[in-house]
Amino acid sequence: MLYLKDIPVSGKKVLVRVDYNVPLDGTRVTDDTRIRESLPTLRHILNAGGSIVLCCHLGQPKGEAKPEFSLAPVAAHLAGLLGISVPLADDCVGPEVQAKIAALKPGELLMLQNLRFHKAETSKDPAERMAFAKELVAGLDLYVSDAFGVAHRPNASVTEAPLAAPKACAGFLMEKEWTYLHGALSSPKRPFVAISGGSKVSSKLGLLKNLLGKVDHLIIGGAMANTFRLAQGIDMGASLVEPDLVGEAKAILDAAADSLTHIHLPPDLVLAESFKAAKATVASHTGPVPAGLMALDIGPASVEAFTYVLKGAGTVVWNGPMGAFENPAFAAGSIGVAKAVVACGALSIAGGGDTDAVVHAAGLGDKFSFISTGGGSFLEFLEGKELPGFKALEEAARK
Ligand code: 3PG
Repeated sequence: MLYLKDIPVSGKKVLVRVDYNVPLDGTRVTDDTRIRESLPTLRHILNAGGSIVLCCHLGQPKGEAKPEFSLAPVAAHLAGLLGISVPLADDCVGPEVQAKIAALKPGELLMLQNLRFHKAETSKDPAERMAFAKELVAGLDLYVSDAFGVAHRPNASVTEAPLAAPKACAGFLMEKEWTYLHGALSSPKRPFVAISGGSKVSSKLGLLKNLLGKVDHLIIGGAMANTFRLAQGIDMGASLVEPDLVGEAKAILDAAADSLTHIHLPPDLVLAESFKAAKATVASHTGPVPAGLMALDIGPASVEAFTYVLKGAGTVVWNGPMGAFENPAFAAGSIGVAKAVVACGALSIAGGGDTDAVVHAAGLGDKFSFISTGGGSFLEFLEGKELPGFKALEEAARK
């Protein structure tokens, strides 16, 4: 893979693929983390005398130019962050866009309209995607990817554009994601601890199976842990469980017993009648969950036990909250674990699901070694899958 830091960009017209699939409240960006994380790449190119053609998707417009998926609010937000004007083209390909690209001067940036207004961007047919990618890179000298969040999608701008462009490389964000995630999985400093939470075992099966045997300790929390408790024959009352996955959960516990990985389930739970309860009915409960009550967080004894597991860790990778942390009544477990991760002094990586929200709610955003911008892509990386976005950059480097 080539890296932006090694490629001269002065006088070059650069297509930068970013992931600005950010939450919007009408016309306002409500979380700009992904935008801010791409700024070093953008500033580097502009300051070095290159010009930028910026492309990304927003939502699922399914091949139609739907105004509610316009990138206008994102362009306005980016202009505020960069302190330069960010004109938004009406489309992402075509003669008008080509004319705008031809007129771009060093230090200028043009943003293209939502890539997914064209069906070809997400087409299942690689030839159709390649034809679209060729249009996208027309008139441009270099392709730079900073779009880790969409690196798991075989989209034209992710997988074909690097090959269609004269040259392609990873931007600073993409490089950072690769360095941390690949480094953690391929040569972790041990003990290596993975923390997996969230509500569904079904969405984490690949991750759990891939990490078994690779990590020294696997901490399981969140509603996922309920299904594991059910697999151990413990009644979970009204808790969220996935009865269909009891067999899988049992198989994972059995496989762990034969592997080097120690699985840790929460020894106590916080119970209440519903997600909306103002406070816990039982603050620390062990054993079967009484009828009508549900587990909504890990309890204080679990935070203490997990803190003990984390002590002395070399590397920690965390995906998924320990409870229904959106309700402050059930946030203590997730926040306690976030604090323990920071306190243990390990290389700490968080990402996917709501993990970044938990870390920020705990006020520890700047204390983690790295918070990934990926959601699905972070998960797929931890599942051991080769992400098409990285594969394409590697193929392009061999051209
Ligand atoms: C994301 O936000 O997870 C990425 O941008 C991918 O978006 P998608 O799930 O719509 O492909």
